[in-house]
Amino acid sequence: MRVETDRLILRNWQLTDAEDLVKLLNNFEIAKNLTIPFPYTLDDAISWIKKNMQKSKRNYYYFAVIRKSDNALIGGTSLALQDEKEMDNGGIWLDASCHGQGLGTEVWTAMSRLWFADKNNNVIYSGYFSYNKASEKLHKKVGYKEFGVRKQLCPALGKEVDEILVKLTRNDFEKYYRTLDFEFKVREDNAQTNEM
Ligand SMILES: CC(C)(COP(=O)(O)OP(=O)(O)OC[C@H]1O[C@@H](n2cnc3c(N)ncnc32)[C@H](O)[C@@H]1OP(=O)(O)O)[C@@H](O)C(=O)NCCC(=O)NCCS
Repeated sequence: MRVETDRLILRNWQLTDAEDLVKLLNNFEIAKNLTIPFPYTLDDAISWIKKNMQKSKRNYYYFAVIRKSDNALIGGTSLALQDEKEMDNGGIWLDASCHGQGLGTEVWTAMSRLWFADKNNNVIYSGYFSYNKASEKLHKKVGYKEFGVRKQLCPALGKEVDEILVKLTRNDFEKYYRTLDFEFKVREDNAQTNEM
C-alpha cells in the first residue's frame, strides 16, 4: 500500500531502508519520545522491518515516510489494530531536520483519514509522553482528546515515564478535517503492495 499527500509518500517498509532507519532513529532526541530500543542497531532495524513485512492485514499500517522532493526517507508512522477491541499502536516520528514544517500534521492527517476510510473504524487511540509538547500539540490539533495516563518504559531514558492517553473520534476528526483550507488527497495504490 502507498499513500500520497502533498509533499510526502507513505509506503511499506523495505529491507533496503534498514541503514537509513538506524541513522535516523539512533538519535536520543527522537528516541526519548518513543519506545524503541536505544541505542538503535542495524539488527533492531532489520528485525523490525522483517516483522512488519510479514504482516499484511486489515487495519495494520506501518509506513516509511518519504519526502517527494528528493525521495529521502525522513520518518515513520503506524496505526495498527492490536486486537478486536483496542487500537493502541499509533506512532509518528520525523527526522529533527524536518520538524516544524507542517509535515507531522500532513502525515497524521493522512493516517487518520486512511483509518476512518474504513466505515467500521470510529476511534483511534494514541499516546505521548507527558514532556512531549510537539506531539501533544500535533494530536490536539487533529482533534485528539485526553482520557487517561499510564506508566510506560522509555528505553532511551531507561525508566518509566507518564504516557498521556488520547483518542480521536470520527466526529472530532471530521470537524478538524472540514477546517483545512487546502486540498488534501490520500491515494491508496494497491499496485504497490508487493513493492518489497
Ligand atoms: C511530533 C512530531 C512528529 C511533530 O512533527 P512536526 O512536523 O514538527 O509537526 P508540525 O510541524 O506539523 O506541527 C504540529 C503542531 O505542533 C506544533 N509544534 C511543533 N513542534 C513543537 C514543539 N517543539 N513544541 C510545541 N509545539 C510544537 C506546531 O506549531 C504545530 O501547531 P500549529 O499548526 O498550531 O502551529 C515531531 O516533533 C517528531 O518527530 N518528534 C520526535 C518523535 C516524536 O515525538 N514522535 C511522537 C511520539 S508520540
